[in-house]
Amino acid sequence: MKNILITGGTGFIGSHTCLNFLEEDLNITIIDSLKNSSRNVLKGIKKILELSNKYDENKINFYEGDIRNTDFLRKVFLQAKNKGNPIDGVIHFAGLKAVGESVLNPIIYWDVNVNGSINLFKIMEENNCKTILFSSSATVYGNSQKIPFNESASIKPFNTYGFTKAAVENILNNMFDSDSLKWRIGILRYFNPIGSHPSGLIGENPNHKPENIFPYICQVASGLREKLYIFGNDWPTPDGTCYRDYIHVVDLAEVHKIALKYLFARDSANLTLNVGKGKPYSVLELVNTFERVNSLKIEHEFSFRRDGDIATSYADTSKMYNLLKWKPSKSLEDMCKDGWNWQNNLVSIKD
Ligand code: NAD
Ligand code: UD1
Repeated sequence: MKNILITGGTGFIGSHTCLNFLEEDLNITIIDSLKNSSRNVLKGIKKILELSNKYDENKINFYEGDIRNTDFLRKVFLQAKNKGNPIDGVIHFAGLKAVGESVLNPIIYWDVNVNGSINLFKIMEENNCKTILFSSSATVYGNSQKIPFNESASIKPFNTYGFTKAAVENILNNMFDSDSLKWRIGILRYFNPIGSHPSGLIGENPNHKPENIFPYICQVASGLREKLYIFGNDWPTPDGTCYRDYIHVVDLAEVHKIALKYLFARDSANLTLNVGKGKPYSVLELVNTFERVNSLKIEHEFSFRRDGDIATSYADTSKMYNLLKWKPSKSLEDMCKDGWNWQNNLVSIKD
């Protein structure tokens, strides 16, 4: 049975991926500094698995620690080996992701996102662990010309967060070029992951004011924020608001399992894939859908355009479909329903 190391495994996307792997009866080892998550996430995962009689505590190991700490990483790999279950592959989610904060605090973003990743790759190499999936972002395309973005579009990030993601992609490509047989690499460029597990037991829980639209809408719906400010209604789009490619986080978790299988089936690989639905929706369509499926109102007001936004961003998903033979199945309605279910549950837990 393979043992997969999941860095950032208690975070938003990581937790859904951990659940997906445990449901498949895989062993996982999670490391997370808990900078943007908490141990309660592990309780949520456990509860969901218990509901389907799939919880097995021997299949999950959790280590609290920082990917910038080489000794810590070395110990995690060694302990797995000593238990007779060495790390076979890594999914690397751990990192910082707030664009605004990255521009204000570039050093910490380069340190965590780039130095942390280099550390991890070093320890993987020491342990002959050659398989890695890296969480990159559509943000690496920046203002790059042609929409929908395909994977060969030029890489033109324009904020610190985007620069750090592009830098790690470069490092991985250099590693592969230096000795292709030594690595099986998958770079996944996520578009806009939203929603949560339908149980409402795990989901996104930002520890700061959300910059992204979906957690902001959820917080307006629950009364934590007064209204949503829609950044511009004069974009060159059919309704004047920006179009984005939203993907349900449960679908996103699933693609990690499929991409990892793809890598394990090969001696060597270097794969870069867009991960989105390939269908854009406007901000107003998102808000209207959220209101309709959850029978509530989202107070909103139009405000100025946000620096760095582009009118339309969505993925050309043909490469993902052709190589992995997989498509996301959940709808915008599912994303809005499940995301609200989680937020509603969070509020009642706090009450
Ligand atoms: P998240 O913040 O919920 O999860 C990241 C996890 O990493 C958190 O649990 C955090 O505590 C942990 N972490 C942070 N710094 C760490 C460190 N130094 N050592 C160990 N753990 C650390 O974010 P997410 O939305 O789940 O995103 C996961 C990955 O996907 C990130 O790399 C992010 O950049 C990337 N990504 C996210 C989105 C998105 O919209 N959510 C889009 C594109 C790419
Ligand atoms: C943002 C980041 C991008 C990151 C992605 C996923 C910027 C410039 N880009 O992209 O690097 O990879 O999130 O994490 O921050 N909106 C509002 N009001 C709000 C929040 C957002 O109207 O309060 C609008 C935005 O203008 C945008 C859309 O909603 O048109 C989606 O915004 P967001 O969720 O931040 O995602 P991206 O802009 O795609």
